[in-house]
Amino acid sequence: MAKFTNNFSPVSNIIVLFLINYSSAEYSLLDSSLCGPSDIEFIENSIIPMPIVFPNPVDWKFKANLKRQIDGPIKSNLTIVRVLSGLQLPIRCYLTNGQWVGSCVYPDLCNSIMYVTNLNKDNCPSNFVANGIDCQCPFNIPSGIIELKDVIQTYSPAFLTNSWLLNGDYKIKIEAYDSRGFFFCLSLGFTIKS
Ligand SMILES: *[C@@H]1O[C@H](CO)[C@@H](O)[C@H](O)[C@H]1NC(C)=O
Repeated sequence: MAKFTNNFSPVSNIIVLFLINYSSAEYSLLDSSLCGPSDIEFIENSIIPMPIVFPNPVDWKFKANLKRQIDGPIKSNLTIVRVLSGLQLPIRCYLTNGQWVGSCVYPDLCNSIMYVTNLNKDNCPSNFVANGIDCQCPFNIPSGIIELKDVIQTYSPAFLTNSWLLNGDYKIKIEAYDSRGFFFCLSLGFTIKS
């Protein structure tokens, strides 16, 4: 009769743990892809540096073709998964500093972007204004090419205290709707180090 033995010594268990940890993908580029038929085409969507070293500034370049106008609030369903040592840890929706954060259905993606970036009509970057975005919600953006650069040099103080923004790889799915209906489904993947 075959005898089942566990041949793993403590040393090889450490090696196995190391390999599991090593296998967790660290992103060297922002992973950005559409996850369904969308009224937007991404030409560029990059964040430098990657991994993001939180809370250091990031250089975000965004160029897209809007196939139609964005009208009014962009209702968005975010699903956020943190991947740590190969384990998928779904981030729930919770309230912090009076703001809902995490995997929530947000009434307007515009408010979320302004909250994270700490932008408002008084510090709105000139290249936003040139693209018809005055940093006031909701967005009303005409169709066509939209190109934003070098914008996230600051984070809102409340965002900096979010406890889930820890080291790890993140996968985010955004399903967005405006007043005309479904707008886009976007999958993002990135790494944060602090
Ligand atoms: C949000 O997205 C998740 C994952 O795709 C899905 O399970 C959930 O039903 C969605 N919620 C709404 C309100 O659309």
